[in-house]
Amino acid sequence: MQIYLDTANIEEIKKAVRMGIVSGVTTNPSLMMRAGRGDYRQVTQEICFLVQGPISAEVVSTQPAEMVEEAKKIAQWSPYVVIKVPVTADGLEAISTLALSEAGPDTICEDCEWLDKCPLDRDVARDLVLMQGISTNATLVFSTNQALLAARAGASYVSPFVGRLDDIGHEGMDIVAEAAEIFINYGLDTQIIAASIRHPLHVTQAALLGADIVTVPYGVLEKMIRHPLTDIGIQRFLEDWKQVSG
Ligand code: E4P
Repeated sequence: MQIYLDTANIEEIKKAVRMGIVSGVTTNPSLMMRAGRGDYRQVTQEICFLVQGPISAEVVSTQPAEMVEEAKKIAQWSPYVVIKVPVTADGLEAISTLALSEAGPDTICEDCEWLDKCPLDRDVARDLVLMQGISTNATLVFSTNQALLAARAGASYVSPFVGRLDDIGHEGMDIVAEAAEIFINYGLDTQIIAASIRHPLHVTQAALLGADIVTVPYGVLEKMIRHPLTDIGIQRFLEDWKQVSG
């Protein structure tokens, strides 16, 4: 199972990248607000540069034609960009249109201030765009049927919001388990991102149930790392070493 970071905070992303555990990042308008960033293109391109993996950026239009238009513009920012679209009837329509669309290879990464430093060669970026088309992440998934519909519409990823379901007394992880089983049964290659993660146990459960990816807030990542016995163990080793080495 891959680990994504669920944040638009550049410092958090840098720290997690240095640990070598981040395969991608998910953002949304609320996370942008929390990071105090209104410059969606710049921050997304910086995250693409830092992570060199799939970065979800969400459309804010609500009608299918507008969502597609907005998505095509966002898809120009980087071949790593994945367009987040909410699962509604209009969203499904946009997802199915985007599944058959491609981001313009000639203008990909245009205006990216990281272009000169980026390890991704511009020609490779163009090839990627031609190969993969426009990737989508069906977001705000709260039922197994929504996940199934999004996969049938051609979504590259579906994001069941586990924590928000738990918050209202439903077993959010059931959606991950059921979607994983259904996607295997019918050979659907849509990947499942367990989202709205609240604590480390969610991560373990998602991994055991067959989620392809879990997207975690930085605070949860820190909790996953820390264990009091590790800290006590280090302390003891250092004290013992001091005694024996003088
Ligand atoms: C996922 O892509 C979403 O950004 C995120 O997981 C939402 O989580 P929340 O319920 O903590 O807002």
